Formats: sequence, C-alpha cells, structure tokens
Amino acid sequence: MFIKKSLILFFSFFLFTCNDTPVDSNDNEIPNSNVSYSKHIQPIFNSKCIICHSESPQGTSLKLTNYSNLITKPGIVRPNEPLSSVLYQRISGMSYPRMPLNQDTLTAKQIQGIKTWISEGARNN
Ligand code: HEC
Repeated sequence: MFIKKSLILFFSFFLFTCNDTPVDSNDNEIPNSNVSYSKHIQPIFNSKCIICHSESPQGTSLKLTNYSNLITKPGIVRPNEPLSSVLYQRISGMSYPRMPLNQDTLTAKQIQGIKTWISEGARNN
C-alpha cells in the first residue's frame, strides 16, 4: 500500500513538474518574427547570463539586467545589424570567448531569437 501511494505521489510530482509553466527559458517559445525583448530576450539573460553579468561590482562591465544597460553600451547591440553586434558575435561563436562562459549553453532557438530581435530593430518591446 505504501509503495503504491509513493508511486502515485512520485508520478503526480513528475507530471506536475512537466506541465507547470516553464522554469527555464529554453522552453519559452520564441517566435520567428515579432520577438519581444521583455517576453523572450530578458528571460534568456535572466536564466543564462545574469549570474556573471549582474549589477554587482563583481559582475562584468556589461550588465544584462535590463534593456537600457544593454543598449547604451556602444557596439554591443547595433539595431538591424546582428552580424556587427558584439552580443550576437559572442553567442554565435563568431568571436571568442563564446558566451555563456560556463556550460549553460544557449539553444539554437535562443541564438536565432536574439538574432531576429536585433534584425527587427532591437526594440524595447
Ligand atoms: C560564467 C560567467 C559568464 C556567463 C554565464 C556569461 N558571461 Fe558574458 N562575459 C563574461 C566575462 C568574464 C566577460 C568579459 C571578458 C570577455 O569579454 O570575455 C564577458 C563578456 C561578454 C560580452 C562582451 C562584452 C564587451 O563589453 O565586449 C558579451 C556580449 C557577453 N559576455 C554576453 C553574454 C551573454 C549574452 C550571456 C548569456 C547567454 C553571457 N555573456 C554569459 C562572463 C560570463
């Protein structure tokens, strides 16, 4: 009886964690157009970049905590020009070291999403 109950508990937990709203932005659907900074881009930074690119003095000089920090640092994002934006260059492997610096790599979809967002004008949308 105890085993049966634990199994049920175990599987409901499993189902619950699978069906709940996504915790990792890997699961956050990024559309092929109309990419939104607040809905799709900042969540990627929050889960994969902010650990090093934080506001804290120990963080790197590029703060990925909000739109204005990102857009005001020269060269990092050139609206409509992903290939000449340091942000895109560093996540796609065009220039090194590739970001993120740890093992928590971006998915192809996330890289494409950031590229599309820059191509669409890097808006604060
Ligand atoms: C484990 C720590 C770490 C993580 C995680 C990380 N970075 Fe970095 N990043 C660094 C460090 C340190 C530098 C500065 C040295 C350098 O340029 O390589 C840097 C530099 C950069 C630069 C160049 C900044 C400049 O001024 O030229 C960009 C762009 C960047 N990171 C983007 C990202 C993005 C986007 C993510 C998340 C997908 C990310 N990083 C995740 C540590 C990290």
